Amino acid sequence: MSPHSLLILPGDGIGPEVMAEVRKVIDWIGAKRDVSFDVSEDLVGGAAYDAHGTPLHDDTMARAQEVDAVLLGAVGGPKYDDLDFSVKPERGLLRLRKEMDLFANLRPAQCFDALADFSSLKKDIVAGLDIVIVRELTSGVYFGEPRGIFEEGNERVGINTQRYTESEIDRIARAAFELARKRSGKVCSMEKANVMESGILWREVTQHIHDADYPDVELSHMYADNGAMQLVRAPKQFDVILTDNLFGDILSDCAAMLTGSLGMLPSASLGAPMANGRPRALYEPVHGSAPDIAGQGKANPIACILSFAMALRYSFDMGGDAARVEAAVEKVLADGMRTGDLLGAEGGQASLTSEMGDAIVGALDASL
Ligand code: NAD
Ligand code: IPM
Ligand code: MN
Repeated sequence: MSPHSLLILPGDGIGPEVMAEVRKVIDWIGAKRDVSFDVSEDLVGGAAYDAHGTPLHDDTMARAQEVDAVLLGAVGGPKYDDLDFSVKPERGLLRLRKEMDLFANLRPAQCFDALADFSSLKKDIVAGLDIVIVRELTSGVYFGEPRGIFEEGNERVGINTQRYTESEIDRIARAAFELARKRSGKVCSMEKANVMESGILWREVTQHIHDADYPDVELSHMYADNGAMQLVRAPKQFDVILTDNLFGDILSDCAAMLTGSLGMLPSASLGAPMANGRPRALYEPVHGSAPDIAGQGKANPIACILSFAMALRYSFDMGGDAARVEAAVEKVLADGMRTGDLLGAEGGQASLTSEMGDAIVGALDASL
């Protein structure tokens, strides 16, 4: 196996559209930075269902376990709304996360200067924002048992279970504290300890890990509903936000609008170290398949390109090149390039997905 093996799973809707632009960046890094990526591509989500009757073929799952990093576009779409729950596109992504044990989902939300005016919030609230949501990704209500839709008397009941073990909380809390040490040294943990026992345990364990092993990090606790409000009121009070699977899903979409668009937010889903010392990893934009704009070539590819930059940093030890890609994104935004999601009410010239990708590669060229 090459030291730089990468499995690309474009998925559905705008997934393949944004991934085509990431391929340009991968090719550029490969050619200009003298790195050889062993890139393979496969199906996930609805695309895999159409081909194989399952949203993730076992061979794809096995390949994902072997490679250094997986890069995923997006899954889902209205075409698959009526499928049985067990084969819905989203199950493919959830299986990858669970079987690869990718418990730590890092979702950075950074407001680039060029977009500070464009957020739905006032410029001084978001300008310079740089926070990371650390979302637990393999447990909680997404996976807890019992779950299902059952007959109960003369009606049905839908059940999902919020469940966290101490060790699951322990490892995600450590991930947040470790990250905070490399940043401003501040973690805010969000749960609902006022109404949920799992929240009480979350708060206790987080505090305990802090006191025992990370006393140098500043830890605060906040109820997640207040956290949502504070994210919109004064987001710069935060640095690292630690939270569970469901709250993290919702809070990260909320944080996306602090940066200007959901099309800007990348993510890294990390697991335990592999034999090479690097974490098992999957990188994906926070956004979905965007059925409302799919097929029109106008999706913003930046979230997916920045996800690849995270792969360079966390899976390939190429932090310098990651920064180079991030700087290229910042440059094209500063130059005024905008996909449709980054245009305000006053309008302007919207660039296509491919034009944005080409401009980022152009900025990379200019960086040499
Ligand atoms: P979505 O994230 O796909 O879209 C929400 C809104 O944001 C839409 O108006 C869309 O046009 C816009 N948007 C999203 N990404 C964009 C981009 N890159 N550029 C420009 N605009 C963008 O959320 P949804 O509509 O609630 O879900 C659609 C499907 O995607 C569902 O099947 C859902 O389950 C799935 N989904 C998948 C993932 C994933 O694969 N990681 C994440 C979220 C949702
Ligand atoms: C996300 C998505 C997924 C989630 C879905 C598609 C399974 O919304 O990655 O944010 O809920 O985790
Ligand atoms: Mn989501």
